[in-house]
Amino acid sequence: MAKLPIVIYPNPVLAEKCAPVTVFDEKLETLAKDMAETMYAAPGVGLAAPQVGQPIRLVVIDVTEEKNDLITLVNPVITEKSEEIAECEEGCLSLPGVWDRVKRPAVVTVRAQDLKGDFFERHCEGLLAVCVQHELDHLDGVVFIDHLSRLKKERDKKKLHKLKLEAQKKAKEDARNGTSPRD
Ligand code: NI
Repeated sequence: MAKLPIVIYPNPVLAEKCAPVTVFDEKLETLAKDMAETMYAAPGVGLAAPQVGQPIRLVVIDVTEEKNDLITLVNPVITEKSEEIAECEEGCLSLPGVWDRVKRPAVVTVRAQDLKGDFFERHCEGLLAVCVQHELDHLDGVVFIDHLSRLKKERDKKKLHKLKLEAQKKAKEDARNGTSPRD
């Protein structure tokens, strides 16, 4: 298994409509395992394939504190959603340092294939419902700040840009001082 580099917004792969998975082979299994390892290490509760530069319809999720309920969704589709709406603060590994409240259906049912190509359904509530919808959005080139008002989205984009510049500045200073951030 290997940890993969996470793609940061506004990388164009995050705006792509991802292609369906048609081949269920070892390569797909390895990618899903590497994505899970990357998600757990981050740490995060979900990761979509475009976030590691692969524009295909594959998602891994684990919202449990114990990290013992890994859900791998291939070609997922939401088949049912509640009229009830819930608002939850969301963040994203591709938008580090930015969080905002997003409104989504409170309960959804997702139908997907597993890594062997077999179909299954999962009823999702609470944080799992939020996460499934957030990750499925990634497969259609949508990030969570796309759900916000234009004003809030611009504010978040500015914050993201500022954090990026600060991180670059710090990396340069560390390089000048002969210390790497890994030390
Ligand atoms: Ni995300």
